[in-house]
Amino acid sequence: MTETLDIRITKTDHSRLQQTDFDNLQFGKTFSDHMFVADYVDGEWKNFEIIPYGEISISPATSALHYGQSFFEGLKAYKHADGQVSVFRPDKNAVRFNKSAERLCMPTLPEEIFVQSIAAVVDLDRDWVPASANHSLYIRPFMFASDPFIGVHPSSTYKYFVLIGPVGPYFAKTLRVKVETHFTRAAEGGMGYAKSSGNYGGAMLAGRRAAQEGFDQVIWTDAKKHEYIEEMGAANVMFVLDGVLITPSTRDTILDGVTRDTVITLAKDWGMPVEERRVSVAEILEGAKNGKLTDAFGAGTAATIAPVGSISHNGEEYFLSDPKTREFSQKVLKTLDAIRYGNAPDTHGWNYMV
Ligand code: PLP
Ligand code: COI
Repeated sequence: MTETLDIRITKTDHSRLQQTDFDNLQFGKTFSDHMFVADYVDGEWKNFEIIPYGEISISPATSALHYGQSFFEGLKAYKHADGQVSVFRPDKNAVRFNKSAERLCMPTLPEEIFVQSIAAVVDLDRDWVPASANHSLYIRPFMFASDPFIGVHPSSTYKYFVLIGPVGPYFAKTLRVKVETHFTRAAEGGMGYAKSSGNYGGAMLAGRRAAQEGFDQVIWTDAKKHEYIEEMGAANVMFVLDGVLITPSTRDTILDGVTRDTVITLAKDWGMPVEERRVSVAEILEGAKNGKLTDAFGAGTAATIAPVGSISHNGEEYFLSDPKTREFSQKVLKTLDAIRYGNAPDTHGWNYMV
C-alpha cells in the first residue's frame, strides 16, 4: 500500500448481525451492515465513505440504466481458525476491474484504492465473515455511470461501491450442463473479457431455456460456429483429458478468471501438464465417450470448483465419472480451501490479511 485512504466512516446504530441466519444463506440476498462508496467527479475519485448499507437515490435518467456503462467484480474473504480474516487475491481483481473500466469508457480506479476500500469495509464488518466450512464473505465491488443524461455518450460522473455479504455454497449439486449451440455470450471484438453488467443480462435467456430443459448451466461456445468451448455459465471451464489439464486460452471473448489462474498455478506446482488453448467441443465429447475425459468442472469465485456430471450436445447426453472419485478436482478444492482458510502455507502470497 502506498498511502492510507482517507475514509469517512458513519456506523449504523441498528446492526442486523444478530438477526441474520448464517445457516440459511441464499447467495446475494444478505448484506452486511456497511458499504463503501466513492464518487468520480471532475476527473478524480473523491468522497471515500463507509456508510450503513441501504438504499440510494438516483435520477431515472441515470446513464448506466440506459446504456449499460456498468460493471462489477466478485471476490471473497475467509475466516481462519484463529479468527483472522483474509481476502483472496484482491490485486488480481483490481487489475481486471480496470480492464473492464477501460473497455466501457469508464475511469480506472487506482489499484490501492480498490484493495483498501475492500479491506476497510471487511475490517469494519469482520464479524460478518462466516466461520463455518464452505462459507465465506462475498465481496461485490462495482461501478456505474451516474450522469443524469440520456445522450449516448460516456458519462462524466461515476459511482463506486463495495457491498459485502456472507454466503454458503453456490451450487448444491453436481452439474448437468448443456453445450450452447444457439445463443452467444460474447463475440470477437465484443466485451466478453470485461465483467460488464450487460454480459450477464444477455446470458440470462440461454440460462433460462437451459433450466427449462432440465440443465443447470450452459457451456458457452464461440460465436461463429459454436465449435469451440469458451466458458461455463458465470465461471471458467476446465477439463482433465488424457492426464492433461486443459482450458480455453483467454481472449477477448473470455473472462480471465482468478480461480482459473489459481488452479493452473497449483497444477503446475504439482508437475501436471497444462494446456491453455482452443478446446473443441468434439474432442471433449470424444473424451467423454472413450473415457479419457477424467474431470470437468467450472472454476469461479462464486462457483468455486463446481463438478460437471454430464455434458449434453444437440440432445445427446454424455456422462462423466462420479465427482467424488476424481483425483484432480478433489485435490484442487481441498488445497484451495486449506490455503484460503489458513490451514496450509500460503506459498504464493494469495491471502491478503485484513
Ligand atoms: N467467467 C465469468 C463469465 C464469470 O462471471 C466468472 C465469475 O467471476 C468467472 C468466469 C470466474 O472468474 P473468477 O474466478 O475471477 O471469479
Ligand atoms: C463471481 O463468481 O464472482 C461471479 O461474478 C459469478 C456470479 C455471481 C455473477
